[in-house]
Amino acid sequence: MSSYDVIIIGSGPGGYVCAIRCAQLGLKTAVVEGRDTLGGTCLNIGCIPSKALLHASHQLHEAEHNFAKMGLIGKAPSVDWKQMLAYKDDVIGQNTKGIEFLFKKNKIDWLKGWGSIPEAGKVRVGDATHDAKNIIIATGSTPSVLPGITIDEKIVVTSEGALSLPKIPKKLVVIGAGVIGLELGSVYARLGVEVQVIEYLDHITPGMDAEVAKNFQRILSKQGLGFTLGAAVQSVETAKGKATVTYKLRKDDSTHSIDADVVLVATGRKPYVDGLGLDALGITMTERGQIATDAHYATNIKGIYAIGDAITGPMLAHKAEDEGMAVAEVLAGRHGHMNYGVIPGVIYTHPEVSSVGATEETLKAEGRAYKVGKFSFMGNGRAKANFAGDGFVKILADQQTDRILGAHIIGPMAGDLIHEICVAMEFGASAQDLAMTCHAHPTYSEAVREAALACGDGPIHS
Ligand code: NAI
Repeated sequence: MSSYDVIIIGSGPGGYVCAIRCAQLGLKTAVVEGRDTLGGTCLNIGCIPSKALLHASHQLHEAEHNFAKMGLIGKAPSVDWKQMLAYKDDVIGQNTKGIEFLFKKNKIDWLKGWGSIPEAGKVRVGDATHDAKNIIIATGSTPSVLPGITIDEKIVVTSEGALSLPKIPKKLVVIGAGVIGLELGSVYARLGVEVQVIEYLDHITPGMDAEVAKNFQRILSKQGLGFTLGAAVQSVETAKGKATVTYKLRKDDSTHSIDADVVLVATGRKPYVDGLGLDALGITMTERGQIATDAHYATNIKGIYAIGDAITGPMLAHKAEDEGMAVAEVLAGRHGHMNYGVIPGVIYTHPEVSSVGATEETLKAEGRAYKVGKFSFMGNGRAKANFAGDGFVKILADQQTDRILGAHIIGPMAGDLIHEICVAMEFGASAQDLAMTCHAHPTYSEAVREAALACGDGPIHS
């Protein structure tokens, strides 16, 4: 048994970042993790492996569609799936070992096993019980599967199974046109799989600016993804190594079915708090099964905090990381800061989609007067050279003050481009501030500046 200033349960982006910051601030810190490797869902079976497969399948797409145009002649590569998975696993290994290294460097103890909290101030891991002045729950989330659907991670899979399929299927049905469904759906579509996405709503990507969502769907359709919208999936049956998905169309209640070699269930995630002993502790939960916290991430039990997917807010790794740093600062007697108005969201398809702040829909609902500045990547020289003219940058600014209220990008490197707008919003900048900032030529970033110019006297290149 050992005694710590802080024990963090869970080593995902929330937990490990929190641990490093706690250690940097002089707190004696340990992290409980039951997986064989650190990094949680994100590094082991989520963000990082999916990005490896997105990268590999995008290279294939480039070879098949654009190499010849640039005078790069030769047979398009064929797919060695085993090697692609090995590459993905290697990427995972490099990242998870990197965290192990950072733990050693920062003198953070890894308590191996699954943790529970028998009482405030104590964390049990296996047979050992450790003392902790503060406990931080950073246990993340798990797929939320529709009732009546059984996941076997072979034919009916979550994102975890979809990242390690034994072979590339011929036909994939994706349930849910959210982030996971579209990222993984586009990986398999690029690998030549027939992909059909079934979505309950009448549009894809709930919460996304509607104009962007419409364009995004058009681009994905051009890439070969099929969409059935307004369809509620009722059941998934498996027989003889295949699956049948049955759904009801909401417009006329008619029932349909579709066969698939693999079905990816991507209908959202829910907080993972099983086995922690929260009930016995009397920790207050929200109606949606999240741990309730105050603005400083404190639960109703003194000395117990929670961050990341286990609490309210968007289920995003970077949101968890920032909360991890903020709570560490709070525990060290400083003022932890987190601006929930400026959290970027990114979908890592090709093209990427990113957003921050208000959408047109939320501004309309609030009755705010706003202006829209838009610029197409077709007017961006760099994008044209790189076959990346699909998409646009859209900036929403206050009609009177010109202050940037939100931004939405669909196009090349959208996930990186969004950050200059995040910084501008953090500083309360106007669209004109952005427009007056010199941007290097030729870069994709010029499209951001042009969209900012479009909020004023107009862009140059359109
Ligand atoms: P999601 O909430 O983004 O999308 C789920 C979709 O499933 C919704 O569009 C919903 O309408 C649909 N759906 C629900 N029930 C249905 C039914 N019976 N029939 C048909 N459609 C149905 O959830 P997703 O994609 O599973 O992602 C989970 C979480 O993980 C999200 O919070 C997401 O932000 C996060 N994530 C983020 C990533 C990123 O930032 N790039 C990558 C992967 C996950």
